[in-house]
Order: sequence, then structure tokens, then C-alpha cells
Amino acid sequence: MSAVTYLARALDTPTNPFEDGPGALRAEEVALEVRDGTIVGRRALVPGEKAVATGEVVDLRHGVLLPGMVDTHVHFPQVRAIGGLGMPLLDWLERCALPEEARLADPGYAEEVADEFLDGLARAGTTTALVFGSHFASAVDALFERAERSGLRITAGQVLSDRMLRPELHTDPATAAAEGAALIERWHGAAGGRLRYAVTPRFSLSTSEAILRVCEELLHSRDDLWFTSHINENLREISTVAELFPTCQHYLDTYARHGLVGPRSVLAHNVIPGEDELRLLAASGAAVSHCPTSNAALGSGMFPLRRHLDAGVQVALGTDVGAGAGFSMLKEGLQAYYLQQLLGAEGVPLTPAHLLYLATGAGARALGLGEQVGDLGVGKQFDALWLVPPTGSTLDTALRHAPGDSDRLARIFVLGTPADVAATWVGGRLVAGHAPASTTHTP
Ligand code: GUN
Ligand code: ZN
Repeated sequence: MSAVTYLARALDTPTNPFEDGPGALRAEEVALEVRDGTIVGRRALVPGEKAVATGEVVDLRHGVLLPGMVDTHVHFPQVRAIGGLGMPLLDWLERCALPEEARLADPGYAEEVADEFLDGLARAGTTTALVFGSHFASAVDALFERAERSGLRITAGQVLSDRMLRPELHTDPATAAAEGAALIERWHGAAGGRLRYAVTPRFSLSTSEAILRVCEELLHSRDDLWFTSHINENLREISTVAELFPTCQHYLDTYARHGLVGPRSVLAHNVIPGEDELRLLAASGAAVSHCPTSNAALGSGMFPLRRHLDAGVQVALGTDVGAGAGFSMLKEGLQAYYLQQLLGAEGVPLTPAHLLYLATGAGARALGLGEQVGDLGVGKQFDALWLVPPTGSTLDTALRHAPGDSDRLARIFVLGTPADVAATWVGGRLVAGHAPASTTHTP
């Protein structure tokens, strides 16, 4: 058994600040004892304490340790499409996203993109992600193969559509059923459970009833598969879906009537929801992935966080790369904060603790991983990112002068970037960056 003790200035949110208030922020200088990837001991250090630990010790105290980020909505085939500005959703899909997604028909290209994608997540400190895969089964295989090697916790699936995109991205029910079943067989539960399968119709606009029926069959072929899709992102999208599904009560009903909305479902965006939809989401235990930089970039709208919280809907954060502005969950947290400020009385005033929770614990719970990851408590996996801003950088200076812990966290969200992430671990394994060598301390 390998055991390492990490000494760190750690910030995390073991409880939900939307319920417990900003006191949910835990800021401590700690010794975290990690055995085979699990945190088995956690002790607050006494200031000035000298002989802090014995055995293998890694001293991270010149930086800040956060729980690994959890990205609940990110598109693997869109890494190279990041930065397409100036278009609403459907134009952006046609001009930026879909031409790039079509290139993943080439397995060699898909492998390169999969490596760039996983590397981008790890370098940003993201340790767990719910990933929108590719329309091509071979590219989904490439993603899972690379994810198995990279060490990240990835839930993903083949994206299914059979209309209104471009012909090379369309499938048919028989192919979708066969490819989906084979991918589930190969990847769901692989790598010790780090890899899981999510049934993924792109959105109801591009998915006929026949494909949604295949999704229903695939999802219910086992009792622990995941479901993800898009919902209520853009007015043109919503009105087209209403025309395509005249007998459905609302957008959510297009999924719900096929048994696709439950506690293992995550729906991205929901910028323009109806009250009935919020009630149904809450009752079913499904989560919403709020993607604030994407919503701003595409002009999709102002996410009504207050209405979600009032209805009791779980909300977590997603980058929505490539409509979103990169892999940084710190940036998403900051943009979520700005947006709620702009909403004035209708917005939710978010504290730094809320931002950290939305980027970590909320995502972990939305993905059913709340017992394993999301904070740095005993029993959790050592999934963490270590921020060490370059000496003299604005973040470095800001952290030195921050009057308190919550202020330090605010500065991290405002100023932190992937360039400040010195190391990222998943289950105690380094997946990006470099950590100091351990030293052996004898009693
Ligand atoms: N709706 C359907 N496909 C997409 C996508 O790729 N990105 C976003 N933001 N919304 C979508
Ligand atoms: Zn998306």
C-alpha cells in the first residue's frame, strides 16, 4: 500500500452553501494522508508546528489546494472550434461546430483531438467530466481509450442525431442501437469504474422519435447508465422543437416521455425553462448544467438560477467547450457570478463558497459521485488541483494581500487561469503538471 501525506493550504466546500450559507467554506492548513488514492486522514496543522507528519511527505504549502473541478457539460469534438464568436446557437452549430465534428470521422484525427481534449481538462484542474462525445463510434472509442490512459473520470457517450444537422453526422435507429450497445459493453464501468456511459441524443431538434426510442432502450438496458442532452437554450431552437413534437407538453417532455429524465440525467443550459419543466426536473432528481460563458457567447440568455433553486432543481456548472470559453471552471464560476449580479433582484448573489461548490461538490453530486469526489474530506478520492501562481503575477500578489479565506477564494476565481494550475491529481495519480518530490520523515 502506498501512503503519502500532503501538507497543504486547502479550500473546499464539504457541504452545500446554498443550504448552509457561506460558512460552508472550509479553509485549513492540513495534513492529508492519502493511501492508494483515497484520503484516509485529515488533520488541521497547528500554526508553526514543525514535525507535521512522518513517512512520505509532499509539501504543497506554497500554493493553494482545491478539490478537482467537475465539468458537467463539455464537448470532446469541439476543442478546435473554441472561439467562434458573433453567432446564435443554430448558426454557430452550422458554421463552427458541425464542420469540425464531421472531421472526427477520421480515426487518426479523432485520436489527436481526444488527446488535446483530455489534456485541456487536466491542465485546467478538471478531474471529472460529463462529456458530449462524437457522432462517430470510432471517435468515442478513441476518447474512452485515451481517457483510460489519462486517468481522468469520464462519463461520455456517442452523440445521436438523424435530422437537421449534416448527412455525415446522421445515424439511423438500427445503427444507433447496435453501436450504442457495443460501446456500453466495452466502456461502461471500465478502468475500475472511472469510465461510464451516457446515452446522448444531441437535442430533440436533431433527433426523431425513433432515435429517442433507441435512447430509451439503451438507457434502460442497465440500471446504472447516464443520460445527457441539451434543453431550452435558444428561442429558435425551442420553437422548432415545439413544431417537431406537437403532442409534447414542453421541451422536457420530448425526453421525459421516453423515460430519459431521472436522477442520472443531466440537461445542459435550460436558460428559458417553463415552471412545469422546473417542477418535473426537481421531482425526477435530474440535474441542470449551467454553462455561463457559452450562454453569453451565443447570446442564449440569462440563466434563471433563482427559479431553479426555488423549484429545488440541482444545478452544477459546465464549460460547454467549444461554445464556452475554454476548459477553466474558474472562468465559468466567475461568469456565473457576473451574470447573477446583472440580474439584480432576480439574481442570486453568489459568494466565493457558492462558486467553489458549483464547480466541485455540486457537479460531483449531479454525476452521482458525491461519495467519492467533490471535496477533500476523509473517505474521498485525492482528486485535487494545486494552484501556484507565478511569483509576482497579479494573482500571486492578490493572494498575499487577501484579508481572509473567502477573499482568497474570490481572487482565485477572478484571476486564476489554467496557467496557474501547477499540478492535478485523480485518485492520487498525477494527471497534469508537476508536484514537488516527496521527502521521507522519520518519527
Ligand atoms: N445544442 C445542440 N448541440 C449543441 C452544441 O454543440 N452546443 C451547444 N451549446 N448547444 C447545442
Ligand atoms: Zn453543449
